Parts: sequence; structure tokens; C-alpha cells
Amino acid sequence: MSEPPGAATFRAPAEAYDRLVGRYAPALARKLIAAAGVRGGQRALDVGCGPGALTGELAAVLGSDRVAAVEPSSVFAEACRARHPGVDVVVASAEALPFADGEFDHALAQLVVNFMTDPPAGVREMARVTLPGGTVSAAVWDYAGGMTLLRRFWDAAVALDPSASERDEGVCMPFCRPGELGDLWATAGLADVEVAPVVVSAHYDGFEDLWQPLEAGVAPSGAYAVSLAPERRAALKDELRRRLGAGEQPFELTARAWVVTGRVP
Ligand SMILES: C[S@@+](CC[C@H](N)C(=O)[O-])C[C@H]1O[C@@H](n2cnc3c(N)ncnc32)[C@H](O)[C@@H]1O
Repeated sequence: MSEPPGAATFRAPAEAYDRLVGRYAPALARKLIAAAGVRGGQRALDVGCGPGALTGELAAVLGSDRVAAVEPSSVFAEACRARHPGVDVVVASAEALPFADGEFDHALAQLVVNFMTDPPAGVREMARVTLPGGTVSAAVWDYAGGMTLLRRFWDAAVALDPSASERDEGVCMPFCRPGELGDLWATAGLADVEVAPVVVSAHYDGFEDLWQPLEAGVAPSGAYAVSLAPERRAALKDELRRRLGAGEQPFELTARAWVVTGRVP
């Protein structure tokens, strides 16, 4: 099956994704699951599952046979399937979910809404496959502020090349501000819409541990890094290290996301 649109910067090996933003994903997933109110005995859909961080946390709460996942990148879908046997993982996009109306108690999308080709259609589909009274929820990084890794990355990139501002995710990513995200949910017909910040953190063994996954070209940040000629890439690496104040010692970074929840009427 060919991949739906939206997978372009997520074809790198799952291990590279794990080491870039994936290292924040399990902790973020637990907060998203809590905000959605997922409880044992229910069924849930993970939309844009990537290599499966949220899928795994959902399976831990519900059991694998009560979790389904969709993902347009076949590389990531295969990684999710291998990591979470028993979960129904389908190569598909949010905009055309291959499920009947009301199959799930919850539809969740972690770090996906801003990558959708047609976000209003994707959220409407999430609502369609969710039972009345169930929840549709999502987390989106605060790219413009509290997602420290990506904020420092793009600040460093723009400082060296102002034209990089076109690719700065804090500027070009839709739905990374609470008002816009809440409006997307309300426009999809969801009720009791709430948006709240959540903060998670990740450990790094040292600056090289942070930099190496960017060299794999994964996600928009990695794709930008590998698009640079070697000397400009080295300058970006130095500038990012300087802005993070990081060296060979271990360190932690915090990352803030906006979590939106809404109820299907
Ligand atoms: C930043 S990753 C998040 C992966 C995973 N949910 C996590 O939290 O680690 C974004 C994911 O959204 C997927 N994606 C992109 N466009 C999509 C769409 N239209 N529908 C569903 N998923 C999409 C990408 O392929 C990628 O796996």
C-alpha cells in the first residue's frame, strides 16, 4: 500500500526518532492518557502512532487487544507493530480512518495534529470513530516557547541564517498555540473543550547524544540539519551547543506541550 501524505520527514529509522523527540514521548503519553480519562475496559485509537510510544502506554492500561493504531509512514507502522504485538496497526492517515463510526471510547493523537494534511478533516474523523460521550484528545509541542530542544535548535539556525525562519517550527507549525488548538476542536463539533499545558523532561548523556539523531534527518529539525553543507552543519552544531550550555556532562531538558481534550456529543 502506498503511504498517505504527511509521512515525508518520518521515514528515518525508528531508533533515530526515539533518540530525537521520542525520548519525551512515553512520559507525554502518560499525561495525555490521564487528560483523556482512559480507563480499563475501554477501547482506544492512537492516530499517527509513529514507532508506538502512546500505543505502548495505552496497551499497558487497556491491553493490546483493546488498542488500534494508524500511521502513514510504513517504516514507523512496522516498528510499532513489532514493538506492540497484538495491537491492530494500520498504514493510514487521520483524514481517512479505516474504522466504522463509534468503534472507540477514545481517539488520541500525540504530536500529530500539526503534521496532518487536513487537520479539520483529521479531527472530524477522530470524532466520527469515537462513541458519543467518548473523548478526542491530542498533544502538540509548544514549539514557540517551552519545547526547549526544538526552540533552541531553531533559534540557533535562525541566528546563523535568517532565512531558516521559514522552517522554524515555532513560526510555521499550525495549532501550536492554545487558542488555535481549542478552536480546531470546537470547529470539529466537540464539546467541553479544554486546553492545558503539560511539561515532561528527557535525559541526555551529553551534547553528542542530543546532536547525533539530528544527523539522521528525522523530523523537520533533522531534515533541516542534513540539508546544510558540512561546514554550515558544523556551525549549527556549535551554536546549538553554546545556546544549550551543554558539553560532555549529562543533562536534562524540559519540553512543554499543549494538551487538548473534547467530548463527542
Ligand atoms: C512527531 S511524530 C509523533 C509520533 C508518535 N505519535 C509519538 O508521540 O511518538 C508525528 C507522526 O505523525 C505522523 N503523521 C503525519 N501526517 C499524518 C496524518 N495525516 N495522519 C496521521 N499521522 C500522520 C507521522 O508519520 C509521524 O509518525
